Amino acid sequence: MRVSTYLAALATAACASAKVWGNSTTAGSVTFDNNRKLLFDTDGNQIDAVGAKINEFGGRYYLYGNSVSQKDAFYGIKSYSSNDLLNWQYEGYLFDIDDGKNPCTGSGGCGRPHIIYNQNASTYILWANAGSVGYQVATSDSPTGPFVFQSSPAMIDPQFDGLQPADHAVEIIDGKGYLVFSALNFRDPRAGSLFPQVYQTLHISELTDDFLNTTGVSYPVASNATAELDFVDQQAESPDIFKRGDYFYIGGSNTCGYCNGTLALLYRSESIQGPWTRQILAGYGCNSQFEGVTPLTDPNTGETTYLWSGTSVPGGDPRVGFSGHIYQPLEFNADGSVQDLDCSIDAEFTVAFPKSNSTTATGNATEAGDASPALAVYSPVCDSDFFTLYQTWPASQDGTIESVSLNVARGHQEAALSLTLFKFSSHEDLLTPGYKWTQLGTASFFANQTTWVFDTVTVPVSTNGTVSKGEFLGVSIAGFDVSPWCHLEYDGADEDYILYAQGGGQYSLRGAQGKTSPVYQRVGKSVKFFATYA
Ligand SMILES: *[C@@H]1O[C@H](CO)[C@@H](O)[C@H](O)[C@H]1NC(C)=O
Ligand SMILES: *[C@@H]1O[C@H](CO)[C@@H](O)[C@H](O)[C@H]1NC(C)=O
Ligand SMILES: *[C@@H]1O[C@H](CO)[C@@H](O)[C@H](O)[C@H]1NC(C)=O
Ligand SMILES: *[C@@H]1O[C@H](CO)[C@@H](O)[C@H](O)[C@H]1NC(C)=O
Ligand SMILES: *[C@@H]1O[C@H](CO)[C@@H](O)[C@H](O)[C@H]1NC(C)=O
Ligand SMILES: *[C@@H]1O[C@H](CO)[C@@H](O)[C@H](O)[C@H]1NC(C)=O
Ligand SMILES: *[C@@H]1O[C@H](CO)[C@@H](O)[C@H](O)[C@H]1NC(C)=O
Ligand SMILES: *[C@@H]1O[C@H](CO)[C@@H](O)[C@H](O)[C@H]1NC(C)=O
Ligand SMILES: *[C@@H]1O[C@H](CO)[C@@H](O)[C@H](O)[C@H]1NC(C)=O
Repeated sequence: MRVSTYLAALATAACASAKVWGNSTTAGSVTFDNNRKLLFDTDGNQIDAVGAKINEFGGRYYLYGNSVSQKDAFYGIKSYSSNDLLNWQYEGYLFDIDDGKNPCTGSGGCGRPHIIYNQNASTYILWANAGSVGYQVATSDSPTGPFVFQSSPAMIDPQFDGLQPADHAVEIIDGKGYLVFSALNFRDPRAGSLFPQVYQTLHISELTDDFLNTTGVSYPVASNATAELDFVDQQAESPDIFKRGDYFYIGGSNTCGYCNGTLALLYRSESIQGPWTRQILAGYGCNSQFEGVTPLTDPNTGETTYLWSGTSVPGGDPRVGFSGHIYQPLEFNADGSVQDLDCSIDAEFTVAFPKSNSTTATGNATEAGDASPALAVYSPVCDSDFFTLYQTWPASQDGTIESVSLNVARGHQEAALSLTLFKFSSHEDLLTPGYKWTQLGTASFFANQTTWVFDTVTVPVSTNGTVSKGEFLGVSIAGFDVSPWCHLEYDGADEDYILYAQGGGQYSLRGAQGKTSPVYQRVGKSVKFFATYA
């Protein structure tokens, strides 16, 4: 974590008070849509937080989730902060995953992180699922860490001693702490050859007054369906809990493990002891797995929006790292039930939220001179085994180009990814046989220098980077290997942002007349990138 970021976070935490969040709060507005799933931080890197939960602490929003960038599996917990739910600043890992002092490298990987704030102790408390060991609890005086783990895991209801504690959520409601957790049963005789492979059920416990443990007493969270016949309650995972009016609500999904969508479940009850009423809000969760609900109160109207979110495809096994996130407000009926999710592909949701005067996050990507749009719908394209790409654009200003960054995700490559930054006189010239561009810089990366998510790689300018406004720039992307590198593309690119592709080994003219260039445009597409000026 950058030291300045850490100090800023500490400062934010220190001045956390009702005053800051109260009177200096204005109503912000943010629009989500079902298409724009891959999210990026202000440095241009993919938000690497599977099962993300958004919390508000001290007038700022924090997004927490499991990182998969290093290992293609849960490895550490990352956090991001924002004042507007749109510009997210990377705040680093919550603790040093490599220090050998945390319980997170075993099974479970400290999954489904949830953080609560103990106001009396001015302490942030992290609960994380460490698999068969159970729930590990850690504390910090900052919402972004470093978190230090307790010496022993929390206790859960002893009746589940033979089962494995799994997905969970912790939350404080009306001053009381709650743990909702699932218990995995690998030995249920009803397991099938195809499915289900395991059984798991949801339970709720109160936390102790310090929020560091449970009381050891739990109540089942299940519908009134007959257990033997019901394969929905018996497959529930990824919970979150909130309260609205008289009802406790527990959202969840069915067993899925970041697959291509699963039941979006919602249970409600006036008491944590039940009885619970169950709803299925969507059969495929809008192609996502439920991850959390964040209440947002509009300071103008006092009305609270309960913002539902899911970890969404693109992604899913086996590329969990390509997971995105989708958000939409839950719509409540008068009886407390909730309407079905709107999974239509073009649905947009505008949500009012309290926006404090904490700073809007900025970074290398938001401050870049030239860039593909921050909020486009980006899709993974994995084709460097077949194509070399040339992304071109005109310089937006007179100045000196410093570097160009673009998003790539690794596979099991042995060859390096090669990037070349260049300028050229015209598109016609560029495609003319024998034309030579002016090289500005090169860089190459082995797989072990890149990550399993769409982080950026950067080509620095190594010669004279002076450019005039309108001058043509380009970056070539080559990574021939049986395991292709992946990059991001969007549709509907500005007509000046032209992407060319050249097939492997295609170095001569083609076509019946022998006049067709082997390099051709991917019409309307552009690669995700940004260029910085001095
Ligand atoms: C906040 O603003 C309201 C309305 O302007 C005012 O009535 C209230 O006293 C203020 N509260 C604080 C703590 O300043
Ligand atoms: C935010 O508002 C609080 C309370 O009005 C004020 O004390 C503080 O200086 C403001 N911070 C910034 C960064 O404007
Ligand atoms: C939770 O309580 C149990 C039983 O008292 C104890 O063994 C365990 O150490 C406690 N864990 C934490 C994190 O306080
Ligand atoms: C916080 O302090 C208040 C007042 O002393 C007390 O009533 C409450 O139980 C405390 N809560 C926690 C979580 O320690
Ligand atoms: C993913 O789910 C959708 C239904 O929402 C289905 O059309 C599609 O075929 C599924 N893909 C896979 C790989 O299961
Ligand atoms: C079970 O719950 C459903 C709705 O959640 C309700 O319609 C039904 O009456 C309940 N059945 C019993 C036996 O309580
Ligand atoms: C931002 O850009 C600077 C200057 O090129 C570079 O040193 C730094 O590593 C970049 N930061 C990130 C997070 O990429
Ligand atoms: C990274 O991969 C390259 C190519 O496979 C290899 O030569 C190099 O030793 C690796 N570096 C590390 C630190 O593992
Ligand atoms: C850099 O390139 C610009 C434009 O081509 C030129 O005007 C300038 O003299 C060059 N500077 C150096 C130090 O070569």
